Amino acid sequence: MLRINLARLRQDLEDLGEIGKTPEGGVWRSSFSEADLEARRWYLQRLQDAGLQHWVDAAGNIYGRVGEGSPAVIAGSHIDSVPNGGRFDGALGVMAAFECLRTIKDHGVHTKLPIEAVAFTDEEGRFGGFVGSYALIGQMPYEEVMRRRDLRGVPLAEAMHAVGLDPARIAAARRDPNDIKAYVELHIEQGPILESLNVPIGVVQGIVAGSRTWITFRGRADHAGTTPMSMRQDAFLGAAEFGLRARDMVLTEGSGTTVGTVGVLELKPGASNIVPESAFLTLDLRDISWDVLQRLLERTRLIAHEVAEKWGLEVTVERMRVSEPAQMSPHLQAIIAEAAKELGLKAHWMNSGAGHDAQVMAKIAPAGMIFVPSRQGRSHSPAEHTDWDQIENGANVLLHTLLRLANE
Ligand code: HGY
Ligand code: MN
Ligand code: MN
Repeated sequence: MLRINLARLRQDLEDLGEIGKTPEGGVWRSSFSEADLEARRWYLQRLQDAGLQHWVDAAGNIYGRVGEGSPAVIAGSHIDSVPNGGRFDGALGVMAAFECLRTIKDHGVHTKLPIEAVAFTDEEGRFGGFVGSYALIGQMPYEEVMRRRDLRGVPLAEAMHAVGLDPARIAAARRDPNDIKAYVELHIEQGPILESLNVPIGVVQGIVAGSRTWITFRGRADHAGTTPMSMRQDAFLGAAEFGLRARDMVLTEGSGTTVGTVGVLELKPGASNIVPESAFLTLDLRDISWDVLQRLLERTRLIAHEVAEKWGLEVTVERMRVSEPAQMSPHLQAIIAEAAKELGLKAHWMNSGAGHDAQVMAKIAPAGMIFVPSRQGRSHSPAEHTDWDQIENGANVLLHTLLRLANE
């Protein structure tokens, strides 16, 4: 059986892991940051050096391709990262897809259908997330591009212009669903299940519904020493109580698969001797059930307003992004499992608590995901690690999944 070249894949992942490297050994490649742009330039050069067809679309998605014709089988993921994240989240899927294309080309393998590798723009969400994959499926309208901004208020449109992309042309990134046979994504599990079961391959059945809500409580800046406690409109108290009540809502009103996280909290003006005038926080809320998530998003809004009233504050609640859950194609699950079996690898069926571009691609094409174990289930941290033999397993399962899909 054909096999990928692990040494080459390892070198690529190690080289990519040096771009945006942090002192703690993680990576920081927020989309369209200098590090992300360096990674993009590096990857484009690698595609060029490999003699592969390659191009960048109107959303900044980077494609590689072997073969001609339509529809295409697409493998992908992302090379942008979370702040001080791990070296494998996203990068593994893009580099493994790239390695599959090189392996196919090097061995002169011909497939009925072309195979593409894609690196999606802003998966991790400096600008709300899934920008490139939503653009590919035609659900990133110009108005949405103009709405998106990062936590410091930098507009997505400005970041796109800075790298030569015209937001007004975003629609050109859309692919005709008839042009896509299937989408497959190799990704680290980012959880403890595969490691605890000692199983090398995860076959993903479903991906959770996700959401990002931005909430700002507004009170009044006052002197921390002279203002009586009874006279304060302290925005921090709104944020603090909201955080605890949101957690309580998740635990008591959720489905058991619900998770909620306040990942960002910013007080302004931000001095120890000023009662905070404003408190900005983000709430990341997820559930495998779309109905439960929608119900809890509405509860979130009500809780924010209740808390604001209690502390004499104003509050604004903005849904930055909401993503529907996705079922992975049963056909692709079966092909992934067969490829694993042929490679002598045990597989475990499971859901994904992390969001992925595959849940967006599933809206227009059969989608599948392959997981490989994460050491101690850690991710979105420099502690993120997957062993090289596990990476080799995942990349070979991806290779044979792509070959089957491109020849059936
Ligand atoms: O947030 C997520 O689940 C993914 O890492 N973007
Ligand atoms: Mn991630
Ligand atoms: Mn990811």
